[in-house]
Amino acid sequence: MQNKLIQFVLALATTAVLAGCGKSSSPAPEGAAPKQPVLPEGGRGYTIGMSQCNLGEPWRVQMDEDIRKAAEAHPDLKVVFKDAQNDTLKQRSQIEEFVSAKVDLLIVSPREAQPLTDPIAAAYAAQIPVIVLDRAVLGDKFTCFIGADNKKIGKAAGQWIVKKLGGKGKVVELEGLMTTIPGQDRHEGFREGIAGSGIDVIFTAEMKWLEPNARSEMESALARFDKIDLVYAHNDPGAHGAYLAAKDAGRTGIMFVGIDALPQEGVAYVQQGILDATFRYPTGGAEAIDTAEKILHGQPVPKKIVLGTMLFDKERPQGMELAGGASSSPDLALEVHGATKADGGAAVQTGPRQ
Ligand code: FRU
Repeated sequence: MQNKLIQFVLALATTAVLAGCGKSSSPAPEGAAPKQPVLPEGGRGYTIGMSQCNLGEPWRVQMDEDIRKAAEAHPDLKVVFKDAQNDTLKQRSQIEEFVSAKVDLLIVSPREAQPLTDPIAAAYAAQIPVIVLDRAVLGDKFTCFIGADNKKIGKAAGQWIVKKLGGKGKVVELEGLMTTIPGQDRHEGFREGIAGSGIDVIFTAEMKWLEPNARSEMESALARFDKIDLVYAHNDPGAHGAYLAAKDAGRTGIMFVGIDALPQEGVAYVQQGILDATFRYPTGGAEAIDTAEKILHGQPVPKKIVLGTMLFDKERPQGMELAGGASSSPDLALEVHGATKADGGAAVQTGPRQ
């Protein structure tokens, strides 16, 4: 009797778990009537799997928070978060777990481009719409990419540096993880921005986005060079790590430039005189949820959404929007999940969010 009771309770629990995992696994084909959310008790209709590559940095905590907050405004959405803890293989298996659980949509902010291209393509081939957020992957086997233009940000940083240093000076570049597209683009854009000037990049090291790495790389740079005018780091934790190393070594007269501009991090550093400039890199969390809603309701979305950016420096502590630069590639097309409408559609550019 007791066994029967246990079996019954287990059966009930399993049904409840499956119901909570989203009813609908196949996205609407082109032209199909929008799928009506089936709202189980509790009012949630669709399950979104969010694969975050790491929660060790404030910017990524903010991204999850932006997603959570935006999803709260949509009673038909439930978001399940996974944190890959800066481990590419773990992120790969977490994506596979979401596919096996038949989530209705995936949002992935991948740690690295190449190794996560295939698992994302496999999810997409399994008819799960995929939004790739912030760090791009290779190819086009996903539904929509959302992120800011890192080349443009790197170039703007380079140009700002040339101006600030009066056209010449000795600069350290602390790079993000160079197997990521943001790292590669922030580097290339920066080199474009300083091209033709008298800026001499005397030391380059990969700090892989992490403040402790940036700090120890900067210690090496300080030990090797008596004169450093400025540090360009690919993110604010990197710029802050470099600042701490210089402070510890009692070295003054060095400027620090970063990227991200979270209000509570980079912008606060500029306002406190720790950093000289930072460029906003929006998390795209809210835009990801807006886009997910559209996809799940059968509406078309662009293949690429380019987010805006802003500069914060001593003269502009409240920030200044950087104009232009939407990258609209001819191969971009409007996409209803599972079908591509060839309209030559351009990337959509949005203004920066505060
Ligand atoms: C966080 C982070 C941000 C950076 C972004 C690039 O992991 O390093 O600081 O702007 O990733 O993808």
